[in-house]
Amino acid sequence: MIVTTKKLFEAAYGKYAIGAYNINNVEQTMGLFRGCVESEAPFIIQISKGARSYTNKLVLESIIRSVDEIFPDAIFAVHLDHGDEKTCYDCIESGFYSSVMIDASHESFEENIAITKRVVDAAHAKGIVVEAELGQLGGVEEHVSVKESDAKLTDPDQAKEFVDRTGVDSLACAIGTSHGAFKFSGTQGLRFDVLSEIQKRLPGFPLVMHGSSSVPQEEVERINKAGGNILGAKGVDDRQFKHAAELGVTKINIDTDGRLVWTRVHREYFIAHPENFDLRPPGTAFMAEYAKFIADKNQKLGSAGQIPDVRKFLK
Ligand code: G3H
Ligand code: 13P
Ligand code: ZN
Repeated sequence: MIVTTKKLFEAAYGKYAIGAYNINNVEQTMGLFRGCVESEAPFIIQISKGARSYTNKLVLESIIRSVDEIFPDAIFAVHLDHGDEKTCYDCIESGFYSSVMIDASHESFEENIAITKRVVDAAHAKGIVVEAELGQLGGVEEHVSVKESDAKLTDPDQAKEFVDRTGVDSLACAIGTSHGAFKFSGTQGLRFDVLSEIQKRLPGFPLVMHGSSSVPQEEVERINKAGGNILGAKGVDDRQFKHAAELGVTKINIDTDGRLVWTRVHREYFIAHPENFDLRPPGTAFMAEYAKFIADKNQKLGSAGQIPDVRKFLK
């Protein structure tokens, strides 16, 4: 069942965070639904601009519709990840997305407000909710690449002004994370001090943490042992998710960790089966491993086991 992120956030606020997982193909979608239904967790499917053009945006929509029929107990939102203004309007018009992210965080404060407000007005007219971003994460995204030294943490006073002036439904804040597998070049970590100041100014308002993959070291080691060359990768400590949730984080974005699962499964599979040229055996192994990975993440987020409660909440 597709619901808005707003509904999920109302149920989760202050108690746990909802996992927001990026998908690109049918194997990831199957594993995602299986992992969330088995762990009884509500979830958010994230679709990036790159994912929409990897095959075709319509292909992803039909995959999600079909997989939803296979798993009728699933409760989830369909969300555009890091949208520009044009893509947001396309998703709003499509009638399929329940939530969009407008990411104008690379613009000036005033321009970010103006763009976000236009998207909020268009989305709300159709009952669709909007996430925006203030501050800048380090790392690489589709249309922006930010050096760690240029990343800007969210200013708590600006966060309050931004939310008041745009009417946005949730806010992605830069609190020390970055996208990709190479976070924290030194001893940095999550800036709970900044997060807590934002929550003080925006009590009860849902906050979003991007760049939250934990880049498990054993996963990286297995990939490297199977011929990979991912050196110096480091992620967020996922034991900190629950504290972030207490401070108002209701959505935690995870993409890189899923890519690592895909890489490890396929590298190890082809080393163990050099004679194989059928795509289905590694695909089958990946779906099972991905489901396990998702169920485990949902435990760490605190969203596992929440479906019965969310169902009551939605009535
Ligand atoms: O933050 C970006 C997400 O990890 C999606 O990545 O734009 O390569 O699909 P992508
Ligand atoms: P990771 O690269 O840490 O998985 O972050 C994903 C993300 O923020 C998607 O919007
Ligand atoms: Zn992101």
